[in-house]
Amino acid sequence: MLKLIGYADRFSVAPGETIRFMVSALEDQPYQAEIVRLIHGDANPEGPGFKSEKVPSGAEAAHVGRRQDIRAGSWARVPFHLRLKDLHSFTVAAMIWPTTPGKGRQGLIGHWDEEALAGWLLEIDGQGRLAARVGDGRAAVEVGSGVKLHPSHWYLAAMIYDAAAGTLTVIQRPVTAYGVVTDDGHAAQAAPAPLIPDCAITMAAVRSGEGVGCHYNGRIDSPRLIAKALPPERLEGLFLQPLPADLTGSILAAWDFAQEIKTTRIVDAGPEGLDGEIVNLPTRAVRGWNWDGSEHCWWRKPAHYGAIHFHDDDIYDAGWQEDFRWTVPDDLRSGVYAAHLWSGDAEDGTEEDYIPFFVRPPRGASGKVGRPRLAFLAPTASYMAYANDQSHIDAKDAEMVIGRLLAYQPSDVFLYDHPELGRSLYDSHSDGSGVAYSSRLRPILNLRPKYSSWLGASGSGLWQFNADTHLTDWLESHVREPFDVITDEDLHAEGYELLRPYQCIITGTHPEYHTVRMWDAMKSYLDLGGRLMYVAANGWYWRIAFHESLPGVIEVRRAEDGIRTWFADPGEYWHSFTGEYGGLWRRQGRPPNMLVGIGFMAQGFDVSSHYRRQPGSFDPRASWMFEGIEGEIIGDFGLVGGGAAGLELDTAKYALGTPPHALVLASSEGHSDLIMLVNEEFGVVPPNLRGSEHPDVRADMVFFETPNGGAVWSTGSIAWCGSLSWNGYDNNVSRLTGNVLRRFLDPRPFA
Ligand SMILES: [Fe+2]
Repeated sequence: MLKLIGYADRFSVAPGETIRFMVSALEDQPYQAEIVRLIHGDANPEGPGFKSEKVPSGAEAAHVGRRQDIRAGSWARVPFHLRLKDLHSFTVAAMIWPTTPGKGRQGLIGHWDEEALAGWLLEIDGQGRLAARVGDGRAAVEVGSGVKLHPSHWYLAAMIYDAAAGTLTVIQRPVTAYGVVTDDGHAAQAAPAPLIPDCAITMAAVRSGEGVGCHYNGRIDSPRLIAKALPPERLEGLFLQPLPADLTGSILAAWDFAQEIKTTRIVDAGPEGLDGEIVNLPTRAVRGWNWDGSEHCWWRKPAHYGAIHFHDDDIYDAGWQEDFRWTVPDDLRSGVYAAHLWSGDAEDGTEEDYIPFFVRPPRGASGKVGRPRLAFLAPTASYMAYANDQSHIDAKDAEMVIGRLLAYQPSDVFLYDHPELGRSLYDSHSDGSGVAYSSRLRPILNLRPKYSSWLGASGSGLWQFNADTHLTDWLESHVREPFDVITDEDLHAEGYELLRPYQCIITGTHPEYHTVRMWDAMKSYLDLGGRLMYVAANGWYWRIAFHESLPGVIEVRRAEDGIRTWFADPGEYWHSFTGEYGGLWRRQGRPPNMLVGIGFMAQGFDVSSHYRRQPGSFDPRASWMFEGIEGEIIGDFGLVGGGAAGLELDTAKYALGTPPHALVLASSEGHSDLIMLVNEEFGVVPPNLRGSEHPDVRADMVFFETPNGGAVWSTGSIAWCGSLSWNGYDNNVSRLTGNVLRRFLDPRPFA
């Protein structure tokens, strides 16, 4: 069991700026902290081993540890308003689409304090039925519909309190009626007038004292509050647009979740303006109860997108108290760093944690004399997409996919026990719907040195962050080329100007997720003479959006096509954060081939293979790369699956935008049958998807010149960098990469 976990308030920090660290010491134990520069995160004894270097800092001190918890689960809050106090008879109604009505008690909408037994509440009870309750401060009276809600069906849900009669009525009415009706129910019961508490209105959870619980899974659309007891046959009228004239006078609140979808606000279109806010980022821009397929884009027909999908495991910002902070010295070199915490020396790593971050070059230093000519673009958006990926923990076919037994690390087990740490963009929520948002403001247990992922091939099972230290270690320990580290978030914020000073940019091993600003910046850089080394595969694959006002959170809509662990529902292909169309860049007319000459073609996670030189490598335009390299076979060794070509593979495809003059220098061969063609490559399922059968299951290494003297070199394999350190860095993968790097740093223009 892990004893220390933490996170920082940012991934990227410039010299002179301050980074804050939030830590939970799970046994309230004291701990030590220091700042280190991370050099090599892979602990595999076949390679250089774990390497870090201590950085003098004020953080080197004993800290009083205390446990900090995460309150996951999204909900909405509407601040208390005096007008809510003088309700006598009233009606509360909403359209609901519960996804897990049977999971236990779940709050829908309430002005309710559970501890005080005061107020009113519409909820799903422990038996999966709609229920209403009122409390007068002494006792609560509950009335249930008597029939179960079916999961993922729309219902009109209402409670009516009639003060004159002293009755409480609950009404559960399916929107779609079937031949045999089993879920239409209503009931009434005598109940005392509620004592209205002075707290906020709560949606999708039940308030208890200062906190909330009983989180709801599912959608809520158009909640209404009416200052009179409506006859049940008038309830449908509350959801007509526009509202019937005789109802408008008694409306107290009519929340319209289709307004301000890009924000965390919920807007009340009623007379009192009882606006509120959402907590923990439930999913917006989802189909409402009245969506009929006539429009698939939320901002073109907002009236059909009045729903919010709440999840009991949504999390945005863990919101922990700060434990310590560090102001980065003005002269600290750019690089990969971490706060290292430890409270013991258990060999399984359970008594320590590393919180990685990136020290970027000083702001405003671009182009200054003496700055590095090379930048490593840390794919932090992709790190966020995979944050706390737990699809392996209970995936029934994971072992079939990777071709070996799963080996859990302590942090995997911890993640299983602590779903409140939140999920990745590869996972589904507890109700089975896809996770569309991922934040970095929470502990991310797989964004760690020493961690090896189930996805990585046999050998060093590294993926994303830790795999990228194979590259940064090689730059530092072998070629000794100074480099700056810049991140996706910096690139999204600053665009082309961030890249402009560098002679050459080198990617991480798997830069998969990009916003349009990031994409455009890289295209500008290449068009204006920049050089790019794409030592990776499956890059520039998904389009994403950063939130326009909240820091550190991205959105993906798994639309249309591609390797997908979940599918966006029809009508939900547009990002809620920006209104942009989501999905694969390839399906948006921008295949990765246009930028880097190659695009995603195959994947598999068991073992890697080697490349064979192709005729293009003997072309004088590129033959200089192969100086000092003998034979035709490249990379038949390595820490990641035993070869330089593995995990995910890209190939040249001229029809998708590979430049016509791109040279194919080498191609991989001999892949295992667990490496298979990606599904966006076929319409009708062919019988020969496997590595031994399909000629496209390979990586292509390509080179091409760009306008204004620039060039691109792409390897097409995630495993490539795992071979750099083989044999004390003396090998043909290292030599080839080094030859390219030296020439790409030489300002002489390419022809
Ligand atoms: Fe990926």
